[in-house]
Amino acid sequence: MHSKDRSRISFQFLYAIRHPDRVAGYAKRRSRDAYLRMKSPDHVSYYRAVMASDASRSREGAVGSHTHESWLTLGQLQFDYAVSHGVKPDMRMLEIGCGNLRAGRLFIDYLDAGNYYGLDISPDILLAAQDTIADYGLQAKLPHLTLVKDLRLHFLPNGAFDFVHAHSVFSHSPIEVIDECLAHVGRVMAPGGFFDFTFDRTEGTEHQVLHEDFYYRTQTLIALAAKHGLDATFMADWDDTGHAQSKIRVTLGDGRSLEH
Ligand SMILES: C[S@@+](CC[C@H](N)C(=O)[O-])C[C@H]1O[C@@H](n2cnc3c(N)ncnc32)[C@H](O)[C@@H]1O
Repeated sequence: MHSKDRSRISFQFLYAIRHPDRVAGYAKRRSRDAYLRMKSPDHVSYYRAVMASDASRSREGAVGSHTHESWLTLGQLQFDYAVSHGVKPDMRMLEIGCGNLRAGRLFIDYLDAGNYYGLDISPDILLAAQDTIADYGLQAKLPHLTLVKDLRLHFLPNGAFDFVHAHSVFSHSPIEVIDECLAHVGRVMAPGGFFDFTFDRTEGTEHQVLHEDFYYRTQTLIALAAKHGLDATFMADWDDTGHAQSKIRVTLGDGRSLEH
C-alpha cells in the first residue's frame, strides 16, 4: 500500500482538522522526539531511546500494537505469509528487529529447536521478548536473542540463514541503516535463502516523519539491493493482506550465490 507525504504541512493541517482528538498526542510525541534526538548522537541511539520510552508504557504498544488482539493478529499475519511463501521448520531464521516476538513466538514454535535468532537494538524490548518466550512456554525451543548497535552482522557466520525477516523495521530506518543491512545480509544468507522485509511505500517524494517513520519508493530499495549484488522482488500479494506497509523479498544475486 502506498502512502501520502505525511511530512507536508498541508497533509498535517488536513489530518488535524479531521482528527482533532489526535492533535495533543502528536504534539506530545513531537516534543518527546525532539528531546530524545537532541540527546542522541545517531539514529540507532535515538531509536533505542524511543523504544525505551514506548516500552515503559506498553511492550505491545512499543512494537506498534495498541491492543493485545492486534498484537496477536499482526504476528499471525506475518507468520502465515512466510509459511505460505516457503518457510519450513528445518530452516534457520534471522529476525532483524524482532521486538517482543509478536511474530517471533510463532516462528520459534514452528521451527526446529535452536533455529530462531532474533536481534534488536533495544535492550528494553529484548527483555520483553524474554517474557514472551516464558509466557508462551517456548523455552525448550532455545531461541537466541541478541542486542546489536548496528546491522553489520559481523558476529554471525557466513551462509548461516535460510530465512531473514524484518517486519516494520525499515519503516523506522533512514536509508543509511538499510544500506548497511543490505551490504552485510548477503554474507550471512545460505544459498537459496531469502530476506523478506516490509517498508512504508510512497510513489511520490521520499520523506520521513519525526525521524521515526520513513517512506521510500520501491525502486530505491530494489536499486540499493542490486548495489550489493542482491536481487529484490516486490511482493504484490502482501499488499492484498491489507497491511499498511509493502514487502520486498531479497535473494542472493547470481554472483553472490557462487561466493558461498
Ligand atoms: C515496530 S517494531 C516491530 C517488531 C517486530 N518485527 C514485530 O513485527 O513485532 C520495530 C523493531 O525494530 C527494532 N529496530 C529498529 N531499528 C533497528 C535496527 N536498525 N536494527 C535492529 N532493530 C531495529 C526496534 O527496536 C523494534 O523492536
